[in-house]
Amino acid sequence: MPSSSVLRVQNIFASYGPIKALKGLSFEVRQGETLAIIGANGSGKTSLMRALSGVLPISSGQAHFLDWDITKTPTHVLTRQGLLHIPEGRGTLQSLKVIDNLKLAWDIESRELGFEESVARVFEIFPRLKERAEQMAGLLSGGEQQMLAIGRALIDQPRLLLLDEPSMGLSPKYTSEVFKVIKRMKEQGLTIVLVEQNAKRALSVSDRALVMAHGEFILEGTALEVAQNPLVIESYFGESFKAKDDRS
Ligand SMILES: Nc1ncnc2c1ncn2[C@@H]1O[C@H](COP(=O)(O)OP(=O)(O)OP(=O)(O)O)[C@@H](O)[C@H]1O
Ligand SMILES: [Mg+2]
Repeated sequence: MPSSSVLRVQNIFASYGPIKALKGLSFEVRQGETLAIIGANGSGKTSLMRALSGVLPISSGQAHFLDWDITKTPTHVLTRQGLLHIPEGRGTLQSLKVIDNLKLAWDIESRELGFEESVARVFEIFPRLKERAEQMAGLLSGGEQQMLAIGRALIDQPRLLLLDEPSMGLSPKYTSEVFKVIKRMKEQGLTIVLVEQNAKRALSVSDRALVMAHGEFILEGTALEVAQNPLVIESYFGESFKAKDDRS
């Protein structure tokens, strides 16, 4: 495996009982790269993220995160090695304070930075979380909760971030903020796989993109190539995109 490759996936399949969710996917993500995965509802994007973090079993094919075989490594080990998955719909601990959410996410073992330094890095990226540190997570706005979910992942200094629909349910203002943060994380060298239905935004912060339909990739290229593809323009930059982007 070339040293620059963070994620390498070869011909993976996964199913939910009789439902075939992933049908022979292959791709690679290199160090520092942001890869966008776009596709309609039910095309298999979330299933792919779940397969990559070890939550959904891969029935055949190969997947490696750095030197770890994803098909043979438990999820908590992958997490400890720096593969962090922020699932669809966030996942913050609602009844705990913001600061305690971060404390629980911080992994004591084998961390170069202490908690105070780690949390300072997160607060630098999300000043709003610093202001709200003592507030219950459940009382944060949707956008702030999304920031907290990303903050929880960043506190462990990930090597690969799997982001599933970070703009889901957010107003245009918060969507812009979340995408600004993604851009900033990318500039700091983080390797990111970004699943989004907000295709235009996703492509604007990504290097490369894959388009998924019915568990398969139907198109791949640089973000610019994909953004200029007539099928993508018709299917993902049309009315549904506008409707999603305009809601608040
Ligand atoms: N737990 C499950 N049990 C059975 N089928 C599932 C399960 N989760 C997803 N599926 C099915 O697998 C297929 C892929 O779903 P998946 O959630 O990966 O799509 P998606 O691209 O993330 O969609 P969305 O854009 O709506 O989030 C769909 O047909 C879905 O109905
Ligand atoms: Mg999904």
